[in-house]
This record gives sequence, C-alpha cells and structure tokens, in this order.
Amino acid sequence: MGFEDFHRRSLQDRDAFWTEQAALIDWQTPFTQVCDHSNPPFARWFVGGTTNLCHNAVDRHAATHPDRQALIWVSTEVGQEIVYTFAELQAEVERMSAILLSLGVQQGDRVLVYMPMIPEAAFAMLACARIGALHSVVFGGFASVSLASRIDDAQPTVVVSADAGSRGGKVVPYKGLLDEAIRLSSHKPAHVLMVNRGLSDMPMQAGRDVDYAGLRQAHLNAQVPCVWVESTHPSYTLYTSGTTGKPKGVQRDTGGYAVALAASMKHIFLGQPGETYFSTSDIGWVVGHSYIIYGPLIAGMATLMYEGLPTRPDAAVWWSLVERYRVTSMFSAPTAVRVLKKQDPAALSRHDLSSLRALFLAGEPLDEPTAKWIAEALGKPIIDNYWQTETGWPILSLCNGVESADSKFGSPGKAVYGYDVKLVDENTGQDLVGPDKKGVVVIEGPLPPGCMQTVWRDDERFIKTYWSSIPGRQVYSTFDWGIRDKDGYFFILGRTDDVINVAGHRLGTREIEESISSHPNVAEVAVVGVADQLKGQVAMAFAILKDVSRAADDASALKLEGEIMKVVEAL
Ligand code: PRX
Repeated sequence: MGFEDFHRRSLQDRDAFWTEQAALIDWQTPFTQVCDHSNPPFARWFVGGTTNLCHNAVDRHAATHPDRQALIWVSTEVGQEIVYTFAELQAEVERMSAILLSLGVQQGDRVLVYMPMIPEAAFAMLACARIGALHSVVFGGFASVSLASRIDDAQPTVVVSADAGSRGGKVVPYKGLLDEAIRLSSHKPAHVLMVNRGLSDMPMQAGRDVDYAGLRQAHLNAQVPCVWVESTHPSYTLYTSGTTGKPKGVQRDTGGYAVALAASMKHIFLGQPGETYFSTSDIGWVVGHSYIIYGPLIAGMATLMYEGLPTRPDAAVWWSLVERYRVTSMFSAPTAVRVLKKQDPAALSRHDLSSLRALFLAGEPLDEPTAKWIAEALGKPIIDNYWQTETGWPILSLCNGVESADSKFGSPGKAVYGYDVKLVDENTGQDLVGPDKKGVVVIEGPLPPGCMQTVWRDDERFIKTYWSSIPGRQVYSTFDWGIRDKDGYFFILGRTDDVINVAGHRLGTREIEESISSHPNVAEVAVVGVADQLKGQVAMAFAILKDVSRAADDASALKLEGEIMKVVEAL
C-alpha cells in the first residue's frame, strides 16, 4: 500500500487502521471501542482496554530477550558509560518503583522529575508508568521561578532530583534551585528523593529529603508488578509554553500513546528490535519523552542516552558513538547539525557510519544549506519531521516504512497517517484549497492516538486555547503558519503566537519575562526573539532596572537566572 492510500485509510477506515496498529503493543484487557469522540474535542482512544507503558517498554522485552541492551548511558561530562540490559533495566525500575511506593506515591499521584541526563531519570519515569503515577519532567536547567510554578500546578507527592547536572565540564548545582523553588511554591511535596552524583553539595532537609543510594540498597530485590491501567489513564504531564506566562501541562494518556509510538517506530523511524536508537534531545523535552525513553524501548531497541555537549571533547563525539554502538536511527535538531558543521565539518568522515539508516531532524525549521551539507556528508536520508509537545509524535514527515519518498528541501514532508491536516485562512476559517497558499496549520478532530488529552486539570483551557482560535469551526490549531505545494508537501513558516524557538527549544517570551521580573532590580522587561544564524532564534531581553548603577552586576546575575540563558548555554 502506498503512502497516500495508507494516509487515506487511517482517516476513512480509522477504527480498522488503529486496531491493526494497536496489535503492536501488549494489552492486559482488550479494548471495546477504538475511539470515543462523542464529546468533542476530547478523544478517548482504545476505551475499555487496560495496559501499562512500562510493561510494553521494559518487561515484555526482559521476558523474551533479557540480555539484550536496553539503556546505553554515555556521559562525556563525567567520563562514564553504563549499559543496562532489559533484565537489568527492569530490576532498576522495580527498585525505583518500590522506593516511590515507600514514599507514599499512589496511582494517579504526580512525581516531578528535575534531573540531569542520568539513568536514574529514566528509571524514575519508567517507575512512575509502572505504578500508575504521572511523571512531570522539568528540564534540569530551569530556574527556580519556573520550577515553582510547575510544582504548584502539578502538586507532586514526590520530587526526584540530583545534586547537580554538568554542562561543558561546569557543574550546575540543582539542589539550591530546587530548594528555592519549593520555598516559593505554595504546594510542598512530601518528599524529595535525591540522587547524589558527588558533584556538588547537597544539604538534606530532615524529614523531607531522602537519599536514593540508601533506599536503593534497601529495595535491591524489590519485585513490583506493573499496575494495569485504563488506556485513557494519564501517563504524564509535560509543561510547554504558549502566549501566557502560565505554562500548560500537556496531559497524555497511556494506551493511545503506546500505540502511537509503536506505530511511529515502525512507519517513520524504522526501528527494529535489537537495534540501537540515538536521540540527542533531553528528557526535559517531548522528544526525550517519546524518542529517548518510550518509543525505542517499546520497539525493543536499545536507547542511547547522552549527557554532554555535541562538541566535547570534539565535534566527532556523536559520530564515534554511532560507530561504537552501531546506531541505526539517529534523531537530533538542525541547530546541532549547524554547530557540528561549524566546528569540524570533516568529523563525520573519520567514522564508520554504515549502521545508520537515516538521520531524523525536528524541532525547528531545517534550512536548505544545513540539509544539503548533512545529506551529502552522511550519504543517508535526512528526514525532517514536524510536530509539537502537544502531539507527542510527528504530524508531518516522510514515512519511509510505508513507502520510500523523496524529500524536498525546506519541507518536513506530508501529513502523517492519523492526522487530517489542513491549512485555513485565519480570518474566515475557510479551508485553503489549491497549492502554495499561506494559512494556519490546523488538524481536524479527533486528534490521533498519543496526542494530548487535555490541559492538566483545565479542560476549558484546552478547548479555549487549542480549539477556538479559528473563526467558525472547531479545529486544533498548531499556531504555525504553513503552505502546501501541489504534491502535498508542507512548508512551515513560523509561529502565529509569541512562542520563540531557540536551538529547537520552544520558549514562551511571556514566561521568560516573568522569570526575569522576579529579579529585585528589574522594574520592567520585554523579551523578543531575534534571528540567529546558528540557533534559529535567540531571546533578547530589554530590561528597565530600578538601580542602573548595578547594571553590570545584575546583567551577569540575570544571565545565570534566566532560564533562556541556561538553554542557550547548553549548546
Ligand atoms: O513551530 C513549530 C516548531 O516547534 C514547535 C513545537 O515545539 P515543541 O513543542 O518543543 O515540540 C518539538 C517536537 C519536535 C512547532 O509548533 N517545529 C517543530 N518541528 C519543526 C518545527 N518547525 C519547522 N520544522 C520542523 N520540523
């Protein structure tokens, strides 16, 4: 079946299509209804079915291939590499699950994860899925003010964190930021579970803070079965930015997400059991959730989790990992490619990259010079794909697992199966038919499996934000401008709202403004996105200070405090 037929069938024969995809995962109880769309725009997928994300990502592979590699952790920051087999990963996740249960975490509770890219972060996420708790991962570089607003919204029972992260050899202490965030927040978590990496001081608050190493030892032989949850049971929330300062908790289900990821590994990312997947993202972002943790593992692949910069010790570091671990699919962002090209364009040629099937790039527009350079240097397909935190997996892409298609420079491809993507006039709400017309990229409901269920604890905001911005109709707005050519290839032209994109990272200017405003010497601040050759955009802050004589000192303090700076510095 060709791509067009596959896409058409996914919409016209929706239930049969998704029933076939649902066979890619294990169900404890079969579902009785494929999609309940009786209360639009809400969609409930695989109603009546029970399953578990951790079972599908870990246990089922540990049962059949216990010695296969599952999690490969490489840190060029601390000079360490650890490989966990599926059996070992399951044991670690069971220990973490037992610890969380011992700290009072119950099904449906939230666990906030504020962690660097270390294996324990993956254990924590998978353990939450195992026991039916929701993880809410907050990017490890975020400032206290942003972290506090997320703590207040998620109201976690437990926060899992570590003494510090490390960027480019510089230790970034987390505990102080976390303590300050909890001081600022109205909600107080019952416990803080701390992983001590020995990088930074970690003062413990008696009664609240507990040490992971000791508890792990106490639960070394823990056996904690997976809790079978309804397909519609939320698996996690992940905060993302929009036009207001208040971040939105994107809520994801369980069964729909597992099916969507399993299908995407087959049709888009071309992953086979026993192979190795390397996504260079961070667990704090949606790409990390879907394609460092759940997607590859659900497919029975090893996932390579990397802590460090792409350029340290040199610009060949990622390519050396591809060679050493025989990576078959790699996922990164255009900014990283631009950085590598600038640093050492010949680095690729020094490594055997024959294992690689394709390089996937997403998160920001892929410009033609970058696309051309990497395509030539690598000699493999470069698959640009377009999606959002809200959708959890690609909206636009080529699907070479269905039918090989040529890419077009500047385009992330065509509408992916399951997505009824349209372009509409922002004033009239009319469909723009015919090629090369600029409009807002929208999706007709129901959104396919795996996409956001709602805004955490705020159904109204879900409807108001995403489904009410186009006059006269209820469609999901991506808040991106786009055009479509005569062959059905889309081109993304930028956001319709205040969101900016720094090095593939989505940031809300309003939230950065709030973060900077919390500084005692700032009277007023405005943040705008400015075009940047390397990072796509950078944020520029214009601040009016209360005491101008302190400008020089405060500028450096703000640079450290503002989360945007952390993100920029990370690359
Ligand atoms: O503006 C689009 C841009 O990034 C936004 C979503 O960012 P985030 O929620 O962080 O999810 C990233 C998931 C990959 C989109 O609304 N964007 C994402 N991918 C592309 C893109 N812009 C152009 N081309 C892409 N491939």
